[in-house]
Amino acid sequence: MNKVNKDIVILGIESSCDDTSIGISRNGVILSNIVSNQDIHEKYGGVVPELASRQHQKNIIPTITRALKKAKINISEIDGVAFTKGPGLMGSLLVGSSFAKSIALSLNKPLIGINHMEAHVLANFIDNDIKTPCICLTASGGHTELVMVQGIHNMSLIGQTLDDSAGETFDKCAKIIGLKYPGGPEIEKYAKKGKKDTFQFTIPKVKDLNFSFSGLKTNIIQLIDRGVTKNKYFIKENIHDLCASIQHTIIETLIQKLKLAIQKYKIQTIAISGGVAANELFRDRIKELQKTNTVNISIPKKEYSTDNGAMIAIAGYHKYSVGIINDFSINVNPRHKLANYKEEH
Ligand code: KG4
Ligand code: ZN
Repeated sequence: MNKVNKDIVILGIESSCDDTSIGISRNGVILSNIVSNQDIHEKYGGVVPELASRQHQKNIIPTITRALKKAKINISEIDGVAFTKGPGLMGSLLVGSSFAKSIALSLNKPLIGINHMEAHVLANFIDNDIKTPCICLTASGGHTELVMVQGIHNMSLIGQTLDDSAGETFDKCAKIIGLKYPGGPEIEKYAKKGKKDTFQFTIPKVKDLNFSFSGLKTNIIQLIDRGVTKNKYFIKENIHDLCASIQHTIIETLIQKLKLAIQKYKIQTIAISGGVAANELFRDRIKELQKTNTVNISIPKKEYSTDNGAMIAIAGYHKYSVGIINDFSINVNPRHKLANYKEEH
């Protein structure tokens, strides 16, 4: 009789910021991906770290219960527990890691600490056989990074933001306009009925493959301030056009750098990831790049673009498969860098 290889079931726990998420994978296939959002931050215009930790604590057990149920997996079938080691908010990371350690200890199974940014990139490998080398642009709330992916276990940073991230720019602009947090989806919603050329914002000029968004943010704040000084209904009367112009400028900034990276590295495949990759205009512009630059593209499903446990489970699966596991002394690291962290600029 042939020996039957045992299935590898990985539990992925994501708690780096404000979403508690649990993903379960079997042999690299996602069985469930449950996200518990924290609406509590909406009114503050950004994540309040103390509140985020408390919400993770409250949500984590119900989220895992739902994930196991959806995956039709008994907790005893889990072979490894992957969790976000960093980067992220200290308190939020500690909730996920303590919970991961408890489960791993009780099941006597290995722990796998995952870099959140690496997991965002690996979200592209869910249900997808993308070719490497490829360049992945990760645009999230905390980071904007261009990553050269030589292989699943070999990534290096080739560009990053020098100040604010793309997601943060969406969030800060939304706050000024009076929209709730997270700002990206809100700006996208209002932009649908707006004209992108009504307000002209300058695309930031930054050397090489790095980004900078703080000047753009100031530009937008000043324009709005001037408008409101002349007409107190300025925002209300122009909200759609303002959102369309802001969205257009942030997305074009990302696209221009991606074009530069394609030219510089003569790369055949590009991927995107992170919360901003859920943006429809961004996804459409990437599809256009495929036509004009004859590159292959990978765009993760929206549920795998924003923070999710599935990407932690998939990253855990790949590490577990080659024997990369951690012992219980592993610590969270709010400033955790990619394993092969190599800045080329
Ligand atoms: O990757 P992510 O879920 O969490 C972090 O790791 O930060 O990214 C969150 C960011 C937020 O700044 C949010 O406003 C932005 O992604 N975002 C979007 C959209 N959905 C989420 N930005 C633009 N358009 C969207 N549809
Ligand atoms: Zn993220």
